[in-house]
Amino acid sequence: MPTTNDASPLPRREQFPADFRWGCATSAYQIEGGVDLEGRGESIWDRFCQQPGRIRDGSSGAVACDHYQRWREDLDLAADLGLNSYRFSIAWPRVFARGRGAVANSAGLDFYSRLVDGLLERGIEPWPTLYHWDLPQALQDRGGWQHRDTVAAFAEYAAVLGRVLGDRVRNWTTHNEPWCSAFLGYREGVHAPGVQGWKSALQACHHILLSHGKATAALRAEVQDARVGIALSLHPCQPATASPQDAQAMQRHDGLRNRWFLDPLYGRGYPSDVWELFGKNAPMVRHNDLQVIAAPIDFLGINYYFPETIEHVAGEGPLSAQVLHVADVERTATDWEVCPQGMVRLLERVHRDYAPANIYLTENGACYDDEVAANGTILDVQRRSYLQRHVAAASECVARGIPLRGYFAWTLLDNFEWAEGYTRRFGLTHVDFKTQRRTLKASGNWYRDFLRLQLDEQ
Ligand code: FCB
Repeated sequence: MPTTNDASPLPRREQFPADFRWGCATSAYQIEGGVDLEGRGESIWDRFCQQPGRIRDGSSGAVACDHYQRWREDLDLAADLGLNSYRFSIAWPRVFARGRGAVANSAGLDFYSRLVDGLLERGIEPWPTLYHWDLPQALQDRGGWQHRDTVAAFAEYAAVLGRVLGDRVRNWTTHNEPWCSAFLGYREGVHAPGVQGWKSALQACHHILLSHGKATAALRAEVQDARVGIALSLHPCQPATASPQDAQAMQRHDGLRNRWFLDPLYGRGYPSDVWELFGKNAPMVRHNDLQVIAAPIDFLGINYYFPETIEHVAGEGPLSAQVLHVADVERTATDWEVCPQGMVRLLERVHRDYAPANIYLTENGACYDDEVAANGTILDVQRRSYLQRHVAAASECVARGIPLRGYFAWTLLDNFEWAEGYTRRFGLTHVDFKTQRRTLKASGNWYRDFLRLQLDEQ
């Protein structure tokens, strides 16, 4: 089993422009806890976690990192790391307990207002994401993302946020990883709300993309100088062999994984080669929907974790394609292939095929089984190496002229990793979930040194 390649050169500060955004990313349900506090309503993840067998360790985000109450300490951590930007998500059920209504919950809004102020006081730019998977359960009860009304509800919610935070927040991300929301939540059913089916997923996916377009317009109407984008989970793909069958399977897989999102966002509509394969499962798309989805965005957020190798398997779903588990490659504890060059390949491709004016790596990070030493330190050399090599890959993207403007490490704190519960740690900071004690890991220390050096030199 190959291990980390520590021979690769470390990234250097001068490889990045001075105004490069350096951050960490988190999400509301994964860190906040406080699910019953100050008028927050139920989310689909609260409900999903109650169902036996859904979460590996039977846990939930009810307490998580207790960030709702410890946010000051967490922002101090972010400041200490030297971040100039912080990506977090807003819990929709804190703003509208039942998803929509005439009056938003002011206590919930106040929390995010204080958070934004706390960031600005520490010299950190706030990068909120409006939707990181925690749909209000009341909307799910009426069909969730399968129901077109959820689109309007999301646009209303976006407008409220724009009105309340728009005087202090410039960079807005509408959705985090629509592929996951739609296909893990409504096809495989391994994420909330646990629905299974192609038709449900494709319709949910269309509504999510449509809601992105509507929310973009709502934000622009409320916030004069808003910069709006979306964070997609994208994967560089390669065929398993040189056979034409695998090459075509790879095209189809890429068609759903990547092009299904990028094409409509960049005004090309859904890719017809993949659309045709869905037959009666294809989504209901109304006149003008594609125009709404193609509303110009100011930046594209890319969450990069791993590449995928695809083989042709006849009858394997509508795409007759399968992700191959490649042997003898370096992997993290979640079995994700470690491939910094994949990041370069992916960004080159997006730059070439879609030419976004600004790209941000809105997530990138790794899970390893950390060991806390007797003296309390966490020497996570593998995560540190992962981070170093991916920051180096980001510098290569910059050197190649790709308009990469920022990098957000996933994640600031160990947290509730969805269906994996607390069994998977991705944090640069270790969290002892019994005591809520935070300890910066070696990876975090490296990031801190790297970023602080930048600060000192500026
Ligand atoms: C991404 C999610 C994020 C986290 C990381 C590990 O797909 O956006 O919430 O789960 O993976």
